[in-house]
Amino acid sequence: MAERVVKAVLDGHVASRTPIWMMRQAGRYLPEYRAVRATAGDFLTLCYTPEHAIEVTLQPIRRFGFDAAILFSDILVVPHALGCDLTFEQGEGPRLSTVTNLNELNALSTELDASKIDRVYEAVTEIRARLPDETTLLGFCGAPWTLATYMIAGRGTPDQAPARLASMRDPAFFAALIDKLVEASATYLIGQFRAGVDAVQIFDSWAGVLDPEAFEQWSVRPIRRIVSAVRAEIPEARIIAFPKGATQAGLTSMALASGVNGVGLDWTADRRAVRGALGGRFALQGNLDPLALIAGGAALDRAIDTLMADFRGAAHIFNLGHGIRPETPIAHVEQMIRRLRG
Ligand code: CP3
Repeated sequence: MAERVVKAVLDGHVASRTPIWMMRQAGRYLPEYRAVRATAGDFLTLCYTPEHAIEVTLQPIRRFGFDAAILFSDILVVPHALGCDLTFEQGEGPRLSTVTNLNELNALSTELDASKIDRVYEAVTEIRARLPDETTLLGFCGAPWTLATYMIAGRGTPDQAPARLASMRDPAFFAALIDKLVEASATYLIGQFRAGVDAVQIFDSWAGVLDPEAFEQWSVRPIRRIVSAVRAEIPEARIIAFPKGATQAGLTSMALASGVNGVGLDWTADRRAVRGALGGRFALQGNLDPLALIAGGAALDRAIDTLMADFRGAAHIFNLGHGIRPETPIAHVEQMIRRLRG
């Protein structure tokens, strides 16, 4: 079997050629994605129709030859499969029915709806079968904290105040919601591993609104519980945490205390300081500013060169510091790959 380099870096190897993938690499900046999206109608149909999910997952691999494919789905599939209503309005982002107290929490299903998640697992198995042998297949889920922010507010808000308030005003409810999401997420990730993913990423996109103590309590600890539950079933499971907006202390704690194999850095992270704190063998992923990819030209080359110099000799997976934006020119993605691969 050809070596899957992303997987190897997660085992602490320093790759001779840094592996590359991009968050949101299957998405609206690609005309072939927009074409499938138009056929599928709405976004959730795209997620739950294996034929479409398989196709859009493979598109960026065909076009750019990235070292990892990430399953096409969404983190909000978990609340949806627990019984929350979910819609995606064009240009407005997700809308969910809210869960704001113990009664509403207890009204959710005890199990993930198989008619939804089995379609995700089916897509995973087929994607693995069709990917080049050397391409790592990544599954993912949302972290309990980030899922809770959407479930409590019913949408994204500027600083996810509704969830932060709920954690203070009704700690019993909030802890029970997190417990439920820990369990559902572990089950979901185990299902993805059994279906064929090589590694998974846990997206904690709203970790940056938490104070240091709350970060430990609501980001690190729930992720640690997911990691232990997954490893109890899949001992070799490789797991990346992406706590967006985490401080240097937060990133270090996530790396050392959660049991994950790698940590994703957003573009604001002080990568040299984090690398210094963790040593060169803990896998770090990131962290090009997605706006540098929109700017292109000399600014993009310079940003890539600095980044690669900072990570030289480390167990590093190249990525953006957050998802690629829809307005990014494809020519700039090509420029990025040329710069990285020489
Ligand atoms: O990275 C990939 O290519 C895999 C697919 C993927 C999507 N969403 C597809 C998507 C992944 C890994 C996600 C994760 C996700 N979803 C996160 C965590 C990462 C992050 O961005 O912080 C979050 C917070 C969500 C929730 C979500 N889904 C939001 C807030 C939105 C609307 C914002 C937007 O970009 O439109 C989505 C929709 C969504 N998820 C799209 C895609 C390609 C756009 C939908 C479309 O095609 O219209």
